[in-house]
Amino acid sequence: MREWTIREEGYEEEKAAALGNRYLTGNGYLGIRGTLEEYEADRLPAINLAGIYDRSTGWREPVNLPNGCFSYLRVDGEMYRLPEVRPISHGISLDYRHGIFHRHTTWHTARGNVTLRTERFAGMDQVHVIGMRFQISADFHADIELVTGIDTKVWDLNGPHLEKISMQGQQDDMVVTAQTHEEGISIAVAEGVLASYPAEMKQIVKDHKILHRIFFITMPGETYTTDKWITVFTGKDVVNPREEALHLLQQSRTEGYDTLLERHNRRWEELWKHAEVKIRGDVKAMEAVNYSIYHLQSIAPRHTDSLSIPARGLSGQTYKGAVFWDTEMFMVPYFAMTNPAIARKLLEYRYKTLGKARILMKYRIDTLAGALRKAANYGYEGAFYAWESQEGGYDACTDYNVTDVFTGRPMRTYFKDKQVHISAAVVYGILRYVEWTGDDSLLDTEGVRTIVECAKFYYSLLLRRLTREDYEIHDVIGPDEYHERINNNGYTNRMAKYVLENAVKVIETAMQRGTLPEEYDGQELKAKFADAAEKLFLQRPHTGEKHENIIEQFDGYFQMEDVSLEDVRGRLLNEKEYWGGANGVASHTQIIKQADVVTMLNLFSREYDTSVLRANWEYYEPRTEHGSSLSAGMYAMLACKIGEPQRAYPFFMKSAMADLKEGGKEWAGLVYIGGTHPAAAGAAYMTVVEGFAGICTENGRLVCHPHLPQSMEELEFSVIYQNREYRVHIDQKEGTITEL
Ligand code: BGC
Repeated sequence: MREWTIREEGYEEEKAAALGNRYLTGNGYLGIRGTLEEYEADRLPAINLAGIYDRSTGWREPVNLPNGCFSYLRVDGEMYRLPEVRPISHGISLDYRHGIFHRHTTWHTARGNVTLRTERFAGMDQVHVIGMRFQISADFHADIELVTGIDTKVWDLNGPHLEKISMQGQQDDMVVTAQTHEEGISIAVAEGVLASYPAEMKQIVKDHKILHRIFFITMPGETYTTDKWITVFTGKDVVNPREEALHLLQQSRTEGYDTLLERHNRRWEELWKHAEVKIRGDVKAMEAVNYSIYHLQSIAPRHTDSLSIPARGLSGQTYKGAVFWDTEMFMVPYFAMTNPAIARKLLEYRYKTLGKARILMKYRIDTLAGALRKAANYGYEGAFYAWESQEGGYDACTDYNVTDVFTGRPMRTYFKDKQVHISAAVVYGILRYVEWTGDDSLLDTEGVRTIVECAKFYYSLLLRRLTREDYEIHDVIGPDEYHERINNNGYTNRMAKYVLENAVKVIETAMQRGTLPEEYDGQELKAKFADAAEKLFLQRPHTGEKHENIIEQFDGYFQMEDVSLEDVRGRLLNEKEYWGGANGVASHTQIIKQADVVTMLNLFSREYDTSVLRANWEYYEPRTEHGSSLSAGMYAMLACKIGEPQRAYPFFMKSAMADLKEGGKEWAGLVYIGGTHPAAAGAAYMTVVEGFAGICTENGRLVCHPHLPQSMEELEFSVIYQNREYRVHIDQKEGTITEL
């Protein structure tokens, strides 16, 4: 039996931030944190807008909208809201099949009990509308005032971002307009209500809010329903956001709440057709993986073709709303298999045409151009993608990305300068999409240019010692961010080789087709890249007793202190202390933040014997803190590839439960990093499909080599491969793939 619902009964004030993430609803255009309607800025409510960034006091980060969901109750003249007045019962739930948030709260008042129920969703069919419904009942003749409107004082990490805020009543409706601080992008949030009972209604503007006050008296036992629509447009969507918001509001009201909800539900059902995973025997795993898929669906940009997905989805401003390697390595594979059009969009984000992007904003050049400029700034050639990419490929990562807990001072970190593996992730995403979907139109001129420029970047990083023939890459950070500025990272060098080798192939094809950009000398580039790919130094499995079969993470890693994770944890002086950088507790040890060599082995598992895969899994796992949500999924997938689904299982569940479990990591030094974890969601899906079901391609055919964990009796899902849909069914004995 599956429920498609998560619930939280009872009220605990300190859970507000975590529940805001877990109960997120969204539609790719915006994300609504799963917070209560009466919450003001200090309890972290947010309606987070995709792709509109602003800088005012600190980091440039995505904008949170004026909160059109803001509402609370007055009963017999007294305010009833949380946390101020303790309820006698309270709970929230999320229908993650349809992205609908529910809340119920009952308060005891001097004359009897009053219950408030709310429902809300971010329109999946019409992304500019949020639908809300209030249902109020009491067991006495309660004098009710429902207060609902728009709160313009929003939660920001580095705000405020909105200025020229205007709040206006427009007959029965209300509209707030504002502009972003940096670029003056206009935004409009309109709000309208409809009470299905006789009520007196007033509007007021008070304390940064514009509000409806709806007065009525309850008959005992009767339910009073009020519908509400919130519409949102920005100057990037339309010429006149205010007019559009008001117009859509009227249209939504005419159509009615139920129609909007029905269309929204239908759209979600369509999305599940290709996405749902069924698991017999393990309901917990099935629910966790579908909940993960829910998050990926809620944040996929469908309304525009110039956006990708940030590392914390649309759950707020953490990580500056920036796009990391998370998208290509962990999310693109999911979308390529279930919704290729979205995967394509995510990749095209990396090479939007220069002309088109220029129209949007004068300094917003396309992301490839941004990557070219970044490489040039460091004295390299080619394309070095932004480590934390905001719109237009602007690198939001700062030189001082962590604040020291002891001194309160910013710490120099080298994520932006040295995580050169980002460009390889972009190439990996593109090629993975093309191979899986068969749609090689992504390798048009821009695609070829992107790959060639990334290859040129790695080429320009190569170093050769006078005494050696091979080429090395020095002074980098691999996926394990705790060890900075290291040489010959196993992951980075292998990925660089992958880019160089594939650039040769892509150039060859482009030359045959006549699509090689004119500025390139195909023969010369091919020769250079082929030579580089051949001579690039790769960390190989060691021989000798101590490290038999182990691939060293980087030069000198084995010489670092080999100490247990627990010992290193025990050295912390403060629980929020940063483990890496110059003085971190892990920096001088073999303790690593996340899968690094294991990530490389998972991607290139076919090149190694199972004994090597297993030895490295066993060596690195106890030395991994799993301080990033990206880590567990890689261990899970590699465990499946060595035929050990039981070992994979806890890591798979860790990935799938990343946003469901209590106590996720919320701090890096003094910086708040809480939010949702879509990369872990993507990894959970990949573990099911590539790991447990063992789906892969052999000679252009889809095949499976299943390894089901004991708890799973049957596994069933669909994938879209090369434009055809296949149904995969796996049980403990065999797997079948049927074309639909
Ligand atoms: C991880 C990175 C990741 C980023 C965003 C960091 O903690 O180390 O690998 O890209 O978070 O999810």
